[in-house]
Amino acid sequence: MEAFSVVGGERLSGEARVGAAKNAVLPLLAACLLMKEPVMLCGCPRLSDIADMCALLQSLGCRAQREGEDLIVDAGGACGCVMPEALSKRMRSSIFMLGPVLSRFGQAVFTYPGGCEIGLRPVDLHLSALRALGARVEEERGHILCRGTLRGGAVHLDYPSVGATENAMLAAVCARGESVICNAAREPEIADLARFLNACGGRVRGAGTGTIRIEGVARLTGRAYTPLPDRICAGTLLLAAAGSGGEIYVRDARPQDLTALLHKLREAGAEVKCGREAGVHLRLRTRPRAVRRIETAPFPGFATDLQAPMMALLTRGQGTSLIVENVFESRMSHAAELGRMGADIQVSGRAAVVRGVPRLSGARVTARDLRAGAALCIAALMAEGESLVENVALIDRGYERLEEKLAALGARIRRLPGGEG
Ligand code: EPZ
Repeated sequence: MEAFSVVGGERLSGEARVGAAKNAVLPLLAACLLMKEPVMLCGCPRLSDIADMCALLQSLGCRAQREGEDLIVDAGGACGCVMPEALSKRMRSSIFMLGPVLSRFGQAVFTYPGGCEIGLRPVDLHLSALRALGARVEEERGHILCRGTLRGGAVHLDYPSVGATENAMLAAVCARGESVICNAAREPEIADLARFLNACGGRVRGAGTGTIRIEGVARLTGRAYTPLPDRICAGTLLLAAAGSGGEIYVRDARPQDLTALLHKLREAGAEVKCGREAGVHLRLRTRPRAVRRIETAPFPGFATDLQAPMMALLTRGQGTSLIVENVFESRMSHAAELGRMGADIQVSGRAAVVRGVPRLSGARVTARDLRAGAALCIAALMAEGESLVENVALIDRGYERLEEKLAALGARIRRLPGGEG
């Protein structure tokens, strides 16, 4: 498997940009199924998750292809409502297709997307949302069979699930009548999906709050759209610069999407300056201070996707930090790998006690999930000597050529072909 070789000790310095957010592009791709005209999504990064989602669309009869930095999706010829098992198992995000496929074709046959390293990832909230909008849903032998004509209704989410909120929006936007989604997720990607749907003729109000109201429309018209920048990639680069004892300016980072992280970075001693709409500058020339407590939570709380990268920074904190992972039930796989580099981390259930150490040592470590892999890269930048970060295919799911972005900032990092190292 491919790996990164990293020689630690270099202070990062310079400017970076992150491009469109993976977790915005994926539901936008699913939304293309609702339109019979082509859609152009501009500035989309080359990520394997995005490529897999395009493959899912193609399996349903859509044309989906990359033209430079842009993705062109034409669902005019979409004809399939059966999601290929292999693809939907590989792609957790395939579940976002359920709402639009059902809306377009009146039926949908899906396979459970399955769990992953960070948790069971059930889809009960997605299914209950679709039932509230008129779908008949049967589950048998690992398959989900949906049918019926969607109509406006009241959806109440027991938990503000990002994916279930997006699925409900996609199911309701062309369903006859009024819909309301209560206890909706408030992540920035939700408002971005609403902006896109409204630009295409939809009537979605309240996205970004806990209550979203949708007035169904007969049809949507495809158009060009630029998704919002990737707050998780931006946060990862800020943490990498902080861990290296350097400085960075992330040009397209949106401060309002990163408030919880920026607050904790300041608590760790970083100097953080923000532009009004975009741009975050960070500088941290010393060992970070420990952060008493970090609890992940739905937006605007501390993002679960930045928990692992933050833990990497705090392994060298001056003191002891407590990190509690409240969103996913098993998202601490990176702790053991960080321990191989000399970190002192005690994990008990969803909580990790991180006792800062003066130095980390390079080691051979393995990424177990996307964000854990990014965390190991950050730790390797902080460590003395060379590290080997294996299984970078997981990192490529959510970071476009992360090694090139870090090398451009002065990191000594390179990608080793599979089997080397
Ligand atoms: C989205 O996943 C993101 N993925 C995740 O990013 C992110 O970590 C997560 O939201 C939380 O912010 C995409 O947007 C493609 P959830 P999603 O539904 O929608 C439970 C990354 O690294 N739940 O908000 O799957 C679930 O098990 C990825 O980029 C149910 O119980 O997250 C979890 O404990 C990882 N039943 C919690 O809710 C359901 O039907 C939050 O999940 C759905 C979810």
